[in-house]
Amino acid sequence: MDARCTNVMPPPLLSRGMVQVVSAAEHIDQAVAELASGRPVVMPTETVYGLAVSTFDVSAIRRVYELKGRPQNNPLIAHVGSVADVWPLIDGTHPLVEPLADACWPGPLTLVLPAAPTVPLEAIGGRPTIAVRVPNHPIAQALLTAFPGPLSAPSANRSGLVSPTTAEHVAHDYMDIDGAEDLLVLDGGPCDAGIESTVLDLTCDPPRILRLGSVSSTTISEVVGPIAEIAVPNQQANAPGTAQRHYAPRIPVQVHSPTSLKHDLSDAIDLVVVIGPTDLSVAAPHLHLQIPDDVTLASRMLYRLIRQADQSGADRLAIVLPPAETKWAAIRDRLVRASAPPMQ
Ligand code: TXA
Ligand code: MG
Repeated sequence: MDARCTNVMPPPLLSRGMVQVVSAAEHIDQAVAELASGRPVVMPTETVYGLAVSTFDVSAIRRVYELKGRPQNNPLIAHVGSVADVWPLIDGTHPLVEPLADACWPGPLTLVLPAAPTVPLEAIGGRPTIAVRVPNHPIAQALLTAFPGPLSAPSANRSGLVSPTTAEHVAHDYMDIDGAEDLLVLDGGPCDAGIESTVLDLTCDPPRILRLGSVSSTTISEVVGPIAEIAVPNQQANAPGTAQRHYAPRIPVQVHSPTSLKHDLSDAIDLVVVIGPTDLSVAAPHLHLQIPDDVTLASRMLYRLIRQADQSGADRLAIVLPPAETKWAAIRDRLVRASAPPMQ
């Protein structure tokens, strides 16, 4: 039966606190109604789950910042259904948008462009630019087709913590948060990519990667030619959202080589949970969460493993960094940020 023909909605799959996790495909209309009345909706994307509101609904945008506990100067990505929906959001045109869209959209590439004057400053952290992407997830696509306009959505984690890659992660993060009463979470299954989109700044020449992600710098260079050095600032204000400490669990984290881990564990008097390759040997009582040797699978599992480590009861987390090769760059970036000391 088509759920749109009836007022009887299928029951929530999970009700944690007041957060409502529902089967996504059956609740698109309800999600659209929530968005239209200014309430955020959690939508699955192929990278991570996002906390979505209309880009043009200023009070809904403010609710997203409050719910996440996010600094006001950290702008949001606007999600659109196709490249045609990008033009109304940007000031002018850009010759690299179409070729990048052909190569990478729908998919995990975000482009930063000059913002159109009609875009509310609240949605872009008061900046003159806007980040846009076309997500490649059937539920995100369905929502963008059904909702008239772009959806601004940060990753649906609380600020600074690990992004959610399942609906269950979102329910866990928001179950006790004021303002998350009746938050609708569309369950679209585990995210395929598992780490966030690559953010590419097209407002400079040559273009510059602001955040490493699921699309490699090699793929981007094949389309646009040389790209500028990746910025790794340690101040939130230098480049928004790229603060050194990010993606962090609640227990302390250190990164290691296999050799330094061995020394660390042989001296350890506390309980350590290790995230490391499958061939690593970790003696009891310490715990070993195996990260797949294949980079695609490792990305998919990464945040799930960090969350598992956080809940393992161990005193701290030791992570073995993957090799310093281009294909592992985004994962290395997330692990280094997860282990950075807290900001003063
Ligand atoms: O995969 C993703 O990108 C996910 C899914 C939900 O689409 N979204 C996501 O959003 O990771 P968020 O807000 O957690 O991270 C967006 C990043 C932040 O580092 C933010 O500062 C940057 O994109 N960003 C957004 N707008 C920008 C702008 N106008 N200029 C520079 N950086 C921008
Ligand atoms: Mg985020």
